[in-house]
Amino acid sequence: MKFLLYLGALTATLPSVLGSEDTSRKAIPACPPRPATPEEQERIFHAFTNEFYVQKNIPEAFDNYVWIDYIQHNPSIGQGRDAAVAALSKNPKVNNTIVHQTFTNNTGFVHHYEFTTPPIKIMDAYRMNGSCIVEHWDVIASLTLAEIDPTPLSS
Ligand SMILES: *[C@@H]1O[C@H](CO)[C@@H](O)[C@H](O)[C@H]1NC(C)=O
Ligand SMILES: *[C@@H]1O[C@H](CO)[C@@H](O)[C@H](O)[C@H]1NC(C)=O
Ligand SMILES: *[C@@H]1O[C@H](CO)[C@@H](O)[C@H](O)[C@H]1NC(C)=O
Repeated sequence: MKFLLYLGALTATLPSVLGSEDTSRKAIPACPPRPATPEEQERIFHAFTNEFYVQKNIPEAFDNYVWIDYIQHNPSIGQGRDAAVAALSKNPKVNNTIVHQTFTNNTGFVHHYEFTTPPIKIMDAYRMNGSCIVEHWDVIASLTLAEIDPTPLSS
């Protein structure tokens, strides 16, 4: 068990150090929480957002950085990591733009536009326990209604 915990902790930080290719990671359990400094948390969080929102490697992003039993507050997605991967994988290669992202006090925020039909804007919030993402909230709205979004699509 200690060996597995160590491997999980190691793979949580490896991709941001070595780049995104690690052929062994699918065989390794999802990250278990371990203590991490705020700087380390922020680095891990941005490795997750890069893997998920930019590279769009959905299973890899979640297997590496999200706890298997993570708490989901989006009512249209079931609890846990695998339900999120299943839901998100239905439309994996939509064009998108990250407008803002930040990390503070164990919580990361990503404000992004997804150019689905119709396009939507989303604010995702993720809580980390040490090294590992353990909880998610989101706010989703139409990007097209002039009444609620009178500005053009620039950030
Ligand atoms: C994403 O944008 C690129 C470049 O504008 C375009 O070629 C591609 O078809 C778009 N993909 C989707 C899924 O909309
Ligand atoms: C940090 O977040 C916790 C909840 O996770 C909250 O209780 C606390 O007040 C927050 N601290 C700051 C400085 O915002
Ligand atoms: C973080 O994870 C550890 C190990 O699973 C657990 O004991 C602890 O209660 C968790 N803390 C928070 C704030 O979620």
